[in-house]
Amino acid sequence: MTPTDPTARDRFLALLGAAVSNGALEKLTLGKHRGTDATLRNLFVRPVALKAGPQLCFVWRHATRDITKNLPPAEALAQIESLLGSTFLDAHLFTSSQIAQLECALDGSSRLAVKTVAAGPRAVASGGHDRMKSHLIPATSSWLRALGVTNDRGQPRAEMAAKFRQIQKFTELLRDLLDEAKLLASSAPSSDESERVEDRSLRIVDMGCGKGYLTFALATLLGARADVLGVEVRPELVAFCNDLARSQGFAQLRFAAGSIADTPLEGADVVIALHACDTATDDALARGLAAGASLLVVAPCCQKELRPQLAAPPVLADALRHGIFQERQAEFVTDALRAQLLEWAGYRTKVFEFISTEHTPKNLMLAAIKAGPRGAADDALAGRIRDFARFYGIRTQRLATHLAFPLL
Ligand SMILES: C[S@@+](CC[C@H](N)C(=O)[O-])C[C@H]1O[C@@H](n2cnc3c(N)ncnc32)[C@H](O)[C@@H]1O
Repeated sequence: MTPTDPTARDRFLALLGAAVSNGALEKLTLGKHRGTDATLRNLFVRPVALKAGPQLCFVWRHATRDITKNLPPAEALAQIESLLGSTFLDAHLFTSSQIAQLECALDGSSRLAVKTVAAGPRAVASGGHDRMKSHLIPATSSWLRALGVTNDRGQPRAEMAAKFRQIQKFTELLRDLLDEAKLLASSAPSSDESERVEDRSLRIVDMGCGKGYLTFALATLLGARADVLGVEVRPELVAFCNDLARSQGFAQLRFAAGSIADTPLEGADVVIALHACDTATDDALARGLAAGASLLVVAPCCQKELRPQLAAPPVLADALRHGIFQERQAEFVTDALRAQLLEWAGYRTKVFEFISTEHTPKNLMLAAIKAGPRGAADDALAGRIRDFARFYGIRTQRLATHLAFPLL
């Protein structure tokens, strides 16, 4: 608990407002009733998705009965503000990333304690009276609506259903990878939770973030635990995303205009590049490696660089008369080489499909977790990588060049 702080109530209300707009609100409880109705005990508030759109459901708990009323977010926030510190002196706010406790005194002073909570397997319920479905990113998040993924009722729009599923799947995967890389507070070695969660602010960079669907998802998942930066070459998208982040109350999410190859990333813990075309994926990996990032996550696409170099071994020549096999071979050779080079660079590497091919054919994900020092001395591994490159006739490859790894 911090010492008495006259701005604590305002800070609490700001946290509440941000949680409502970015969809992170789980519940709010008001207690220590001091109003005129002697039967009133508590007020419980939670988000609900109704036909009329996302609303906040108020449950007024009296000694012998509950009274329930739904309010649109702006009206609900105004009412909570009017109650806090007068009708109710205590408040507990639960969001997907924080627990905030406010204590008000009758003299107008207030105290606030905020605790960051570890991301766990729990998901935030999307709300809704008739159908409760759990998602890590609540469907009622207003940024999803602003990006056109959900409708005014907080439901995925039919034409964006695949994108909605992709966002949820990606968020689950990232949470698991962050955990595996020991980057989440819950997996840090310290046994003192308050110390370990408060001290850690991850630096995450999403390279080639586009409209920021997955960047906003990460910022929602991690809340105050991470500073998230989206890098995008198209300035109009950057301006759009920055406006949206500001209006939705994301304090630790920002977007910068620039190219992947030229954006310095000092101190980045996590570097992500999803569907950054062709060698932009290599540039993002190289940036992450240079920054010493603990986790690199890429979903490569448009693997063109190696196609002109690929010389089919004679035994494959007949098979490779077919264009689709040539294309798949180029994808396989490019991404396999990337994975091997990341291993050589001291990263434990995993390659997997991250979403069903039914949603997108560009579904391969390559994740690398820092495991040790660069394996420059590992002649055996370097030799195997060169054998692989020679087998396919590869002389140069962008990531190898970045790493000064001789393929010949
Ligand atoms: C296919 S979109 C993917 C967007 C986002 N990562 C996703 O998966 O939803 C690729 C984005 O990367 C951007 N991009 C491509 N090359 C880039 C580069 N070299 N530097 C920065 N952004 C780049 C494009 O403008 C585009 O918005």
